[in-house]
Amino acid sequence: MKNLAYLNKYFAKYKWRILAGVFCIICSNLLSTYNPEFVQKAVDEIAANFKNVNNAGQVSEAFKGKLTKDILFFFLEYLGVALLAGGFTFLMRQTINVSSRMIEADLKNDIYNHYQKLDVAFYRRHNTGDLMNRITEDVSRVRMYVGPAIMYSVNLFFTIVFVTTRMFMKNPHVALFVLIPLPVLSFLIYYINELVEKASSQIQAKLSDLTTDAQETYSGIRVVQAYAREKEMVAHFDEESEAYKEKQLNLAKIDSVYFPAMSFLIGCSVSLVVFIGGIQVGLGKMTPGALAAFLMFTNMLMWPVSSLGFTASMIQRAIASQKRINEFLNYKPDIADGKGIDKPLQGEIAFEHVSFTYPDTGIQALKDISFKVKPGERLAIIGRTGSGKTTIADLVMRMYDASSGKIYMDGTDIKDFSLYSLRRQIGFVPQDVFLFSETITDNISFGLDQSDKQTAAVYAGYASIGSEIERFPEGYDTIVGERGVTLSGGQKQRISIARALIKKPNILLLDDCLSAVDTATEKEIQQNFDQVLAGKSAIIITHRIFSLIRFDNIIVLEDGKIVEQGKHHELLQKGGVYAGIYEKQLYEQRAEVNTGS
Ligand SMILES: Nc1ncnc2c1ncn2[C@@H]1O[C@H](COP(=O)(O)OP(=O)(O)OP(=O)(O)O)[C@@H](O)[C@H]1O
Ligand SMILES: [Mg+2]
Repeated sequence: MKNLAYLNKYFAKYKWRILAGVFCIICSNLLSTYNPEFVQKAVDEIAANFKNVNNAGQVSEAFKGKLTKDILFFFLEYLGVALLAGGFTFLMRQTINVSSRMIEADLKNDIYNHYQKLDVAFYRRHNTGDLMNRITEDVSRVRMYVGPAIMYSVNLFFTIVFVTTRMFMKNPHVALFVLIPLPVLSFLIYYINELVEKASSQIQAKLSDLTTDAQETYSGIRVVQAYAREKEMVAHFDEESEAYKEKQLNLAKIDSVYFPAMSFLIGCSVSLVVFIGGIQVGLGKMTPGALAAFLMFTNMLMWPVSSLGFTASMIQRAIASQKRINEFLNYKPDIADGKGIDKPLQGEIAFEHVSFTYPDTGIQALKDISFKVKPGERLAIIGRTGSGKTTIADLVMRMYDASSGKIYMDGTDIKDFSLYSLRRQIGFVPQDVFLFSETITDNISFGLDQSDKQTAAVYAGYASIGSEIERFPEGYDTIVGERGVTLSGGQKQRISIARALIKKPNILLLDDCLSAVDTATEKEIQQNFDQVLAGKSAIIITHRIFSLIRFDNIIVLEDGKIVEQGKHHELLQKGGVYAGIYEKQLYEQRAEVNTGS
């Protein structure tokens, strides 16, 4: 139960609404218990006047008039109370269900908000499906506790109190017999519910297999078709689908036992009342009207008592779900705000003996890295795949913290900055480009508060993508990604560069951002960069040498270590790794020219 304590703050927020709901439950229950009393009076009245019926079965005129009047009066009383009770039931649902929906929305927002703060390490450990599930499925299970479960429990409590009091006042003997089958009914329903629950969760798991399967096929449809594996894919899906159907049929079987079992037990209760009550009436210990009232009370108890079973399993499910939600809510990201310093950065970046080991795999990606970029300077980091370049970028962005050593920005340990301040001031182009399914303008303006086509076009120009965008029929309003145009790798990279530049940051961090563009475009961008980068500090990560950009320092990484460091001509003179890469690149370029590509 302590898992659900997290929800108390929401209950406090909506306490008046919920209390109003509870008040409505009490009123509606209290009123409903009057109706059997009216029926009792009416039946007793009729029974008492049987003497007015003569042997031929004729009723005297005077009595007919009185009976009609009385019965009409009972009818009106009954109708009035039923209407009032119905009104309160309506209000109860309106207040409690509405607050449960509000709490659901609040909880979803809180979880979403928290997700935004979690670090990369967290996202590596949990898959998207799991994250989605907790914010949708689990939250809706918790809502069942916040709304219906609480409503049914309160309802059950007051119904039992009011109804049993009246029954015991009428005839304790019969009352006792009415109550005997109820716990059995309750338990049986709980038991069946558990079975249903187990079957449903199996179905849920199968369904998620099925959707993942279908989704994979759709996303990979080009590979599937290219390898002519359609038949096998269909066969596999068929198998999964069959398994899903089996589980559904199993659930249907359990479901079909449910209602007959319930009707049977309710029937037992009712016949018990008729039997025991009949004897009591025969013995003159109870009026026929009271027996009728008893039958009504028995019916009134049935629904809330049978709801006890599934209220209990609803609460159990909510506990399990809230536990899963709390697991995420209580996760404290390792990457935190430190002292929360927020100051404009000049752009000095210093690594001092930084080493880094990936926590999950234990792979040591960086070993004793030291370098310094002064404000306005440009650093190139070159190295083979897997040498640790992206890891350096991730450390600068504080996606991870260094395992040892220190990283400073303008002389302040980056751990002391507020993450917001630090990241906002760096223009970062990640290696794996991600664009949102929105317009190109919106994608380029992502880091700004407002998107503006003109400004976006200027920066698209710097990233050498402007003319290509203008050639799209809808230009800058073209929607990118799943719902729109599929961009080429190189186009995506350049939009991502424009997105970083438009923030006008003092620091730029570009991770292999030209790997997918051709040499001509690469050259064009390099030429633009000299102007774009003026006065900014920049770290440019690449596996190719950009000889057109003037770098103040070049680092050559190998296996997480700096193996060479210096300016372009110094490194060429050295004749080491860098010179080797350069020569290879020149050779490739010459080959390209010769083949005319
Ligand atoms: N999230 C991660 N968890 C565990 N190990 C990782 C992770 N990311 C990278 N590594 C490992 O760290 C090492 C350095 O990876 P990194 O991505 O920094 O290389 P890179 O120089 O950027 O390579 P590339 O040129 O291919 O982008 C590699 O051995 C890689 O397997
Ligand atoms: Mg990389």
